Amino acid sequence: MAEISKRPYKEYSVYQIWPRSFCDGNGDGIGDLIGVYSKLDYIKSLGVDVIWFSPLYPSPNADYGYDIADYKDINPEYGTLDDFKKVLDGAHERGMKVLMDLVVNHTSDEHYWFKESLKGKDNPYHEYYHWHEGKNKDGKTPPNNWLSTFEGGAWEYNENLNEWYLHVFAKKQPDLNMDNPKVREEVKSIMRFWLDMGVDGFREDVITFISKPANLPDGFPLPAATGVEHYKNGPHVHEYLKEFKDEVLSKYDCFTVGESPMMTMKNALPYITEGENQVLDMMFHFQHQEADCFMTEWVHTPFNLHKLKKAFSTWQDALYGKAWNSLYLENHDHARIINRYGSLKYRKESGKMLATMCYLQSGTPFIYQGQEIGMTNPTVDSIDKYKDVLTFNNVKIAKKLHLSDKLFLKLANIASRENARTPMQWSDEKYAGFSTTEPWFVLNDNYKSINVKESEEDPDSILNYYRKLLKLRKENEIFIYGDYKEHYKASGKLYVYERNYEGRKALIICSFSEKGAKFKAPEGFDLSKGELVLNNYQINKINDNGFVTRPYEARVYLF
Ligand code: GLC
Ligand code: CA
Repeated sequence: MAEISKRPYKEYSVYQIWPRSFCDGNGDGIGDLIGVYSKLDYIKSLGVDVIWFSPLYPSPNADYGYDIADYKDINPEYGTLDDFKKVLDGAHERGMKVLMDLVVNHTSDEHYWFKESLKGKDNPYHEYYHWHEGKNKDGKTPPNNWLSTFEGGAWEYNENLNEWYLHVFAKKQPDLNMDNPKVREEVKSIMRFWLDMGVDGFREDVITFISKPANLPDGFPLPAATGVEHYKNGPHVHEYLKEFKDEVLSKYDCFTVGESPMMTMKNALPYITEGENQVLDMMFHFQHQEADCFMTEWVHTPFNLHKLKKAFSTWQDALYGKAWNSLYLENHDHARIINRYGSLKYRKESGKMLATMCYLQSGTPFIYQGQEIGMTNPTVDSIDKYKDVLTFNNVKIAKKLHLSDKLFLKLANIASRENARTPMQWSDEKYAGFSTTEPWFVLNDNYKSINVKESEEDPDSILNYYRKLLKLRKENEIFIYGDYKEHYKASGKLYVYERNYEGRKALIICSFSEKGAKFKAPEGFDLSKGELVLNNYQINKINDNGFVTRPYEARVYLF
């Protein structure tokens, strides 16, 4: 069995805050830092060790904070640097760490660097971005056929300069030229700024996209993101990340998680394998997010448990003893998991089962605001209510494909990432206790019954289950350092795995079905000798070393 190294970050669990929708402290309908401050005890009560903040920086909000206009300040909508320091100290006082979102693939076009870069080819900031001449003499054809993920072509023409700039996301998110050593110095300076203030690490946004090939080859034509194969794991990415690590990160007590769309396990290993060349502590990959879709949630397919199990097991099997997993079900870029992989009819049961299935694997749990109370997708009744650049882009693509508005709306209600961005449901009061005025975005009507207050009062709530689960993980090293072995691989209803550590064993049994499935413990397990340490039904009988599962049942036995 592979030796496993102990690291503090392996023992943590993380709570993600998407600040705009978490808690509004000053009554303007927008979440903010005073709001966060007032909820620190709540966050601590979950049993998490770390708070990750989606971007808090000044931003014109073309991509709600992922378009940064100043890396060393706080968005006035959210408060001031002093408010941030208060939250940081408050978190530290409670024994919690803080991760900042580091978004350095691109800036906002309203960042000083970009505004300077527009002034002329000899401006020192010009080389901060990917400015290139067009293909033809007249300059009116972009340098290659790349498409952005968020807004049509990946190149924007500037008349004055007679040049094009690259944006692989929105037009207002010009890509930084990481090949320029000055840009890398800026990144290091940003890192130091926050680390010196006391933050404990970074979630690094689309970090595996930062290196673009110099010859800018055409990409394979797709409806969006054409060209991505050339930069999703670009030529110098390891080199640059190593530089950040050696010169900055290794000098602080901190940890990193890199977001890596389209990442395969094979390509991930060189980034995260422990040792000399490791550049990230762990990674967010997307493979387990594709069990109900093809590549993107907008190409929706029925939920497929085999796909889900294969995605998880591939990473679990390959990383154990070598590298470390992140474990997440939700974040600000995906629809709510109960709608996707669980059941609205069995919301409570499936919400608990999904948490059990995911967070007792080997890795660091990441929980997204609202997930812990089983929030679900809202019903959005008009396209006009959406706010997000990605949804807008998909409206355009849908028009090209002659999809009716009605059909598009139906799809958006399933697939839009805005499903996860509705205000946090704190109580059944007006505006869900999120704000005292109308919130900036659609509030889910179900806040009257699904909210923190109600969940606190119900011992059987999803919230209280999350607390139990995180405590169980914290108190039993087997759930942190144990190995992973999947059983019942062929089952279309059950997801079963065992963990082993220093002579102890655990068996995790999860049903993804409303219908009963016959479960019999695998060889070597005698359920009558195990302790049932977590379960989502009250009465739990065993029959012939097994049982017939109830809808979305989850049980965890410890031996
Ligand atoms: C990441 C973020 C997403 C953002 C994109 C561009 O995927 O999670 O919200 O839109 O990067 O920064
Ligand atoms: Ca506010």
